Amino acid sequence: MSDLVLKIENLTKTYKIGKRDVQPLTNLNLEVKKGEFTAIMGPSGSGKTTLLNVIGCIDKASSGKVLIDNVDIAKLPESKLYKIRRDKIGFIFQNFNLVPYLNARENVELAMELAGKFKGQRRQRAKDLLATVGLSGREQHRPQRLSQGEQQRVAIARALANDPAIILADEPTGNLDVTNKQEIVKLLVDLNQKQGTTIIMVTHDEQVAAQTQRMLYLSDGKISEDKQIQKETIFNSQSESKETY
Ligand SMILES: Nc1ncnc2c1ncn2[C@@H]1O[C@H](COP(=O)(O)OP(=O)(O)OP(=O)(O)O)[C@@H](O)[C@H]1O
Ligand SMILES: [Mg+2]
Repeated sequence: MSDLVLKIENLTKTYKIGKRDVQPLTNLNLEVKKGEFTAIMGPSGSGKTTLLNVIGCIDKASSGKVLIDNVDIAKLPESKLYKIRRDKIGFIFQNFNLVPYLNARENVELAMELAGKFKGQRRQRAKDLLATVGLSGREQHRPQRLSQGEQQRVAIARALANDPAIILADEPTGNLDVTNKQEIVKLLVDLNQKQGTTIIMVTHDEQVAAQTQRMLYLSDGKISEDKQIQKETIFNSQSESKETY
């Protein structure tokens, strides 16, 4: 699976709620190549967040295989899972999830500190990453002094901190106004195109999804549609969105 960063085979996830079973994922199969930008869409409750959480080692598969860089995380104990989560995965959330009492630079550095990087190295890399996401000069600002879009940029810099194999983004534009939404999507597209970052992004927004390379639909616990997005579609969707916004 040399060019595959993720391979999922027959993934099933069942939650027990009292005596009732809820099964958001049922024998789901998926392959993602290195450098792909994939959008996941689907109705509310269809298991999109559950899928990201299983891939991101936040939640465990009930059965099946989930291979990240050839390692089956479904079989790993928690003591090994946290390392995969730390070293291979970068998360971006709808609510940014920044630490409120740390400034932008410290938020990015924290992820590296947890991965055991040295202080000097951390500081320079945090500065560089904040520059990459367009936040030079804002390093000392705490989240409350940053706009929503800027907070999401810090979260993206943090997600990139340990050079993960996959960035998982759960509705990253869900809390943003139209302008910030477009800017954050553009940033993600740039990171993917210029740095080859592999991104899997859940979104409810067709126009956001249309700017990726591949659109998946989740329903009945499985990937029910898997569409490659043609360049023409990207162009059309961007020109449409200019009119709409
Ligand atoms: N920790 C949990 N315990 C029990 N049930 C859960 C848990 N997490 C999710 N579920 C259930 O699994 C199903 C899928 O939830 P999930 O959050 O993955 O959906 P989603 O597609 O992300 O929805 P949305 O678009 O609203 O975010 C839902 O029925 C939900 O209630
Ligand atoms: Mg969700």
